[in-house]
Amino acid sequence: MQSLQDKASEWSGVAAADAFAIDDGNIFEALGGTPQPFVDLSTNFYTRVYEDEEEWFREIFAGSKKEDAIQNQYEFLIQRMGGPPLFSQRRGHPALIGRHRPFLVTHRAAERWLHHMRQALDTTESIDADSKTKMMNFFRHTAYFLVAGNEMTRQQSQGVACKHATSKPAE
Ligand code: HEM
Repeated sequence: MQSLQDKASEWSGVAAADAFAIDDGNIFEALGGTPQPFVDLSTNFYTRVYEDEEEWFREIFAGSKKEDAIQNQYEFLIQRMGGPPLFSQRRGHPALIGRHRPFLVTHRAAERWLHHMRQALDTTESIDADSKTKMMNFFRHTAYFLVAGNEMTRQQSQGVACKHATSKPAE
């Protein structure tokens, strides 16, 4: 059976090695070692999401306050890109598949998410071009990893070992 990682690579068109090139260096440090670039990116991204002209996509996020969604995302990104473990300190293990289980993470939703993230990255000046490329590959692969996980089952998803949430797969 094809693994979630394999499906993520096939559907996203991003090889695992490119998705996890974010681990080749420390992006948090490369961007100055402060939360600001990640706060900029997540604010930019979620402003687009919450103002999306496509209601079906906006509705997916209707249960969360924008400010909370921004904080959840930038704390996760800081942690995953080599900074302090802010997300886990406040929210626990990222467990991304499990946390996305309540939402319909379809191919269409992934493409819309990635559309907004592409635009957010393009217009965030505090992130350099090389980091943007690495981050986009990570986002594409992770988005389709979540689609695959969401499709697989909403019940049996806990405990799936992956490198999307931490640099070391979960036990
Ligand atoms: C949270 C949807 C992709 C990381 C959320 C939330 C929604 C959502 C509705 C709740 C907002 C909140 O309260 O924080 C989606 C959809 C995606 C997607 C439709 C399309 C594929 C991704 C990707 C990543 C990601 C690619 C990581 C690279 C997160 C994180 C949270 C989150 C870290 C916060 C979880 C928490 O604190 O409980 N997502 N997401 N998501 N998402 Fe996604």
